[in-house]
Amino acid sequence: MRLQNAVSLVVSTLLGMAALAQAETGAEGWLRYAPLPTETAQQYRKLPHRVVETSQSPIARNAANELARGMHSMLGENLQLSATLPAEDAFIIGTPGEIRHLLPAWTAPSTIVPEGFSTSQFTAQGHAYWIIASGTGRGELYGVFHILEQIAQQKPLASGTDFPSSPIRWVNQWDNFDGSIERGYAGRSIFFDNGHVRSDLTRVAEYGRLLASVGLNGATVNNVNSNLHTLEPDMIAELARIADAFRPWGVRMSLSVDLSSPQVVGHLSTFDPLDPTVAAWWRAKVDQIYKAIPDFAGFVIKADSEGRVGPSKYGRTPAQAANTVARALKPHGGVVLYRGFVYNNHLDWNDLKADRARAGYDNFHNLDGKFEPNVVIQIKHGPIDFQVREPVSPLFAALRHTNQAIELQITQEYTGQQRHMVFLVPMWKAALDTDLRAQNRSTLVSDIVEGKSFHRPLGGFVGVANVGLDANWLHHPMAMANLYGFGKLAWNPALTAGEIVDTWTRLTFGNNSKVVFIVDGLQTNSWRVYEQYTGPLGMGTLTNILGIHYGPGIESAERNGWGQWFRGDSKGIGMDRTVATGTGYIGQYPPQLAKIYESLATCPDSLLLFMHHVPYNYVLHSGKTVVQHVYDSHYDGAAAAASYAPRWRGLHGLIDDERYNETLWLFEYQATHAIVWRDAVTEWFQNISGIPDELHRVGHYPGRIQAESMQADGYTAVDGTPWETASAGKAVVCTRSAPCTLTTKFGQARGSYTIAVQYFDLRTGAAQYELLLNAKPIAHWTADATLPPATVDKHLDGSTSTRFTVPNVSLKPGDTLTLRGTPNGEEPAPVDYIEVEKEY
Ligand code: GCU
Repeated sequence: MRLQNAVSLVVSTLLGMAALAQAETGAEGWLRYAPLPTETAQQYRKLPHRVVETSQSPIARNAANELARGMHSMLGENLQLSATLPAEDAFIIGTPGEIRHLLPAWTAPSTIVPEGFSTSQFTAQGHAYWIIASGTGRGELYGVFHILEQIAQQKPLASGTDFPSSPIRWVNQWDNFDGSIERGYAGRSIFFDNGHVRSDLTRVAEYGRLLASVGLNGATVNNVNSNLHTLEPDMIAELARIADAFRPWGVRMSLSVDLSSPQVVGHLSTFDPLDPTVAAWWRAKVDQIYKAIPDFAGFVIKADSEGRVGPSKYGRTPAQAANTVARALKPHGGVVLYRGFVYNNHLDWNDLKADRARAGYDNFHNLDGKFEPNVVIQIKHGPIDFQVREPVSPLFAALRHTNQAIELQITQEYTGQQRHMVFLVPMWKAALDTDLRAQNRSTLVSDIVEGKSFHRPLGGFVGVANVGLDANWLHHPMAMANLYGFGKLAWNPALTAGEIVDTWTRLTFGNNSKVVFIVDGLQTNSWRVYEQYTGPLGMGTLTNILGIHYGPGIESAERNGWGQWFRGDSKGIGMDRTVATGTGYIGQYPPQLAKIYESLATCPDSLLLFMHHVPYNYVLHSGKTVVQHVYDSHYDGAAAAASYAPRWRGLHGLIDDERYNETLWLFEYQATHAIVWRDAVTEWFQNISGIPDELHRVGHYPGRIQAESMQADGYTAVDGTPWETASAGKAVVCTRSAPCTLTTKFGQARGSYTIAVQYFDLRTGAAQYELLLNAKPIAHWTADATLPPATVDKHLDGSTSTRFTVPNVSLKPGDTLTLRGTPNGEEPAPVDYIEVEKEY
């Protein structure tokens, strides 16, 4: 048995090395285990060359293998595995009992909790031991990853203990059985394809390793909008294979289920949670699941929300529904994560008291204390839906006798869909560090979900991750900091965003001080920058909420039942959520915090329009008017986004070319898409408010030649939809199969210019574009939809608006510029404008 282990260790180590020797695709994430420079490696010279692991559990064996893999890769050391105490220095991995069996004189630190670990040095019989002790295999694994993380950062190894903040540390994946992922931006599902679990689950095991390395212990693998047939016996058998792949990494699988399952799968006449046949059905179904998946973690339930059925159908409460399912899971140790995201998406826009933000509290606060002990209410951090800035949900403070978990969104649905760099940890920290002042005392959101504030035994963190088959998991190399950061915060919400990003950068790109300085700097401010150009002052992300939630589409939020309103008209903007004159939402917060939000004098600028309706010339604490702040913030944000690529170029040669180029390309794209956002939002505000930009930028674009004003052959003008997403409200399309052209005479001074062509790249075709100067071709490209967004959007709008840039073009007055577009498929070679900018 032991010999077998040793062989598998060598094989897995060699395989690991082979993977590392290849070009860096990002597949290793932060677990690259890059070789340390020889001098730095010296400090680890005295570490043992043997690892003792006595238990036979797959997790513990994985822990020992991982230690060997990391040590080999970073330090070139070949660790040998053994089950017994060798006559030499060794790492020893085990439970306190197992370790004492080998070393009777060793005493365990009293503080090791089941998933926590201790690392310590111990000397006996003249040998030095590094002991990694935990009550569980999972904790042993976490201890190993901790040691490897220290080495990767070139830090000295120290003795100590560590433990996770709370028991629930899960990711949710919104994967569909057909292989698509709802709000997934990095390729297809690693779990499913064509209605089935994939035959090759290699990526699932690799994902499990990444999750375990940051202390995550659960994964819900299917969409919250669950397939109604998830619990069919055949599917359970297939799903068990996913659980098998996760198990060696201590990651327990859970499933999203629909409450109608007793009817759809069980063919009962009802799914009324209070019907005894329904309760019996859940018991039998859960027993069946545990036969196939003995460590099954439980269910996530989305009900009475966005078209999903729920207990309201029978006049029952979420507590009655959750409890029926929870009672079935209880004997097996499973839990129900019942989502607090219950709201009416057919609100009456004309009702000034209607408010989606109220829904979580209104639906759940009366149920406090009515849930079974193995139910956890999974609450999105804000009361709406992962907007770029929201206050925290007041529900956190209202549930004092009910377990809670905070739901954070790693997948960047409203925050740039992994085409824009947005490091979300500072946003999550702002939520976790909010002091709700429940019972007039300090009750940080992090303390509440950790169970500390109200002494709850169960609770924690859920992150909607949506990794996909893209080699680097999340598409944007920088987005992996969000997955990493989520795990780190779930383990210890007291960590700072700075600490988290710094470690991630070192693990991901190396310890070179210039690399660390540039990457940390880029990531750290990126949420604020994104907020600046997509929705400052708490307005919400001003995206097309009826479309794919990516580019600007400002008024889509208004005049419909979804309730993501900001109520902007010619006189003013913002949702009046005050108790005095508005929806009363602010009154859902405990009094001390409510008082701060209720008063214009104390409400922070960053949440002003979430809480209040004010005129456009209302003066902020900063001294600027609302409208001027909107203009300035969009110009500042777009300028900051434009600085990413030049700053990144400073890393050329200091990191591998592959990840360097991939990131550079995305930064260049982000700079241009930030301009689309800037122009759309500022023009919309200028139009509705009638108040011009003091700095005369909005609507004035020197060097911009609108396509519709150029001399056209074959091109016809169309309206932008919505108008603000096309410059001057119009674009042109070529509706014939032959190429169309646009021509203009250059009228500015002689010099070197950058020519930017703003066009729309649809995924429904691959139009060709050619730029000619005095009839000579100077650039040619295909709108081949390799550019964002990841989701099909057939419209000429703020999501598909894209830019191609030609630098260093010598121009003189009278030169002729011609753009030739050749349509393809359903893509009519659309063009918005050409912008000619002098180079200095
Ligand atoms: C958002 C998202 C949906 C998702 C929902 C949820 O509304 O756009 O795709 O299903 O959140 O969290 O349930």
